[in-house]
Amino acid sequence: MTRLVVVSNRVALPNELKPGGLAHAMRSALREIGGIWFGWSGRTTSQTASMAQIQREGNVTFATLDLGKRDHEEYYAGFANRTLWPLFHFRPSLVDFTRQTWAAYRRVNAIFAEHLARFIEPDDLVWIHDYHLIPLASLLRERGIRARLGFFLHTPFPPPELLNMLPVHRELFEALADYDLVGFHTADYLRAFRDYILLEAHGEVNDTGVISVRGGRRSFRAGVFPIGIDVPEVSNLAAAAHAHPGCAQLHESLQGRALMIGVDRLDYSKGLPERFRAFGRLLEEYPEFKRQVTFLQIAPVSRTEVAEYRQLKRELERIAGGINGRFAEPDWTPVRYLNNAYPHAALTGYYRQARVGLVTPLRDGMNLVAKEYVASQDGDDPGVLVLSRFAGAARQMGGAILVNPHDQDGMVNAMRAAITMPLADRRARWRELMDGLEREDITAWRRSFLAALDVTAEARDGRL
Ligand code: G6P
Repeated sequence: MTRLVVVSNRVALPNELKPGGLAHAMRSALREIGGIWFGWSGRTTSQTASMAQIQREGNVTFATLDLGKRDHEEYYAGFANRTLWPLFHFRPSLVDFTRQTWAAYRRVNAIFAEHLARFIEPDDLVWIHDYHLIPLASLLRERGIRARLGFFLHTPFPPPELLNMLPVHRELFEALADYDLVGFHTADYLRAFRDYILLEAHGEVNDTGVISVRGGRRSFRAGVFPIGIDVPEVSNLAAAAHAHPGCAQLHESLQGRALMIGVDRLDYSKGLPERFRAFGRLLEEYPEFKRQVTFLQIAPVSRTEVAEYRQLKRELERIAGGINGRFAEPDWTPVRYLNNAYPHAALTGYYRQARVGLVTPLRDGMNLVAKEYVASQDGDDPGVLVLSRFAGAARQMGGAILVNPHDQDGMVNAMRAAITMPLADRRARWRELMDGLEREDITAWRRSFLAALDVTAEARDGRL
């Protein structure tokens, strides 16, 4: 019987309330098919655990490993988040490469493979997620695993000119080529991957999308599978959120002012300083918005092991303080800047109250906040999404006001257009966006990826 084995660095354990769309998608896929979710426990201990901890919920088994302090520092904070994350988000000047963290990355992946191999049966579909775990397929194959192995990258994939700055780019690519299927969110990322194959790996891509490398000795597929959300679930949560005390308090505190909202992990890829500065410029250039608009930015702290994240936090405090110092009045604070995380249900209620959703990353694999903001709106009086053209979501969400976050004038104009957009335009844009969300939802995402993985590996075992 086919089971699903999901592998990701972070696992949403049954008793944890993880707000992310991915966590939700994986849990529902596992419940439907039955299987295992394997990954890091989220805990660091003095030594990496020699046994996985097991929890069960219905037909789903959660198997997690504690990571030793040094492994966590070098693999997660090191190679994954100081090397691959900035490189994949087009920030080569932030890339810190050392052979030591590269070795740790492979070492921790090998530990994952050793434990994971015990759980995998030949008929399983194994779905590995994100940049932390690229080497897993090769390491599992070395251990004789024959099951179908798929990989999905949740970040952008950089063009070859950027990727080849990484001293171990060949090893990384070779590791990707050991999967049966590699999935990306957008056609741009797939194109960058194919460019790498043709230019650097001397491989070939045939008419049916089969990629051959190593002189034809290895074949695999790559495709585009844009992640979506559970639209009715988010809409229902948002519609019911007025019962949440936090939502009522927010509503009251606004005193009828228009709300602009941003919700992002505190990450340099999210374009937060650019967004804050553009808001400051809006108040400076269009004083009619003073007292009329409040900008709420929720930015839970993230990856504080990495210096750039700590610096960004200080920078945002400075910019937010500067704007408030300059424009605030005794009964109006223009920027409300919060580092706490909020429950998913409350966020949907905040989105619904916001006349404008600001999702303006410098680079982002997809960005599910953009989708959740739209699904949370009241269709009779919907808000407007301002979306960076550099988020993967922009490829599907042409009904948003698309912006270039590097263009401050453009950002100011977009904010202004969003706040003042007439109701008929807001409704038309919202309907178009909702149609897209319903067409390419979370179920379509996982079904299309798993169907492609099924077919691809059958082809490998048979004809290829
Ligand atoms: C991004 C990555 C995920 C990651 C998440 C949170 O969305 O693509 O793989 O889990 O950020 O980051 P963290 O480092 O806290 O897991």
